[in-house]
Amino acid sequence: MDAKTEKYQELVASIRALVDGETDQIAVMSNIAAAIHQTMGFWWTGFYRVQQGELVLGPFQGPVACMHIPFGRGVCGTAWQQRQTIIVPDVEQFPGHIACSSASRSEIVVPVFDSSDDVVAVLDIDSEHLATFDDTDRQYLEEICGLLAEGIRK
Ligand code: SME
Repeated sequence: MDAKTEKYQELVASIRALVDGETDQIAVMSNIAAAIHQTMGFWWTGFYRVQQGELVLGPFQGPVACMHIPFGRGVCGTAWQQRQTIIVPDVEQFPGHIACSSASRSEIVVPVFDSSDDVVAVLDIDSEHLATFDDTDRQYLEEICGLLAEGIRK
């Protein structure tokens, strides 16, 4: 098992314990963002929540970020529109990428679904290095968003 997979397995176990019995969406998102950020050492880790038809900045760790993202705009708005995880190896190559920080070079965005299968939020992670994210990140971050969704459905 490689070092990244090992870190993610520990992270998923600790998030499972963190979310157990907690149904407040903001509380759970806050601790999930902190746990991912601290364990994996990313540049920016946070949630945007769907509020009145747009994405609004939610709990995050890292530098200040843009607060409103329209449906279908940027990587976050596109992941929401397409209802699927998007991995961007080089943000300069992604048409319409929203640059919250010039330090961000690559990005992954994972949608969070509610019990009606609607997207209620996205998890956005930025790296200051190119091509940081791969299928391992996708697999474990989707698992983490699934745990979050299970909690907020209760
Ligand atoms: N780059 C994102 C915007 C959010 S910030 O990276 C925190 C996007 O294109 O949707």
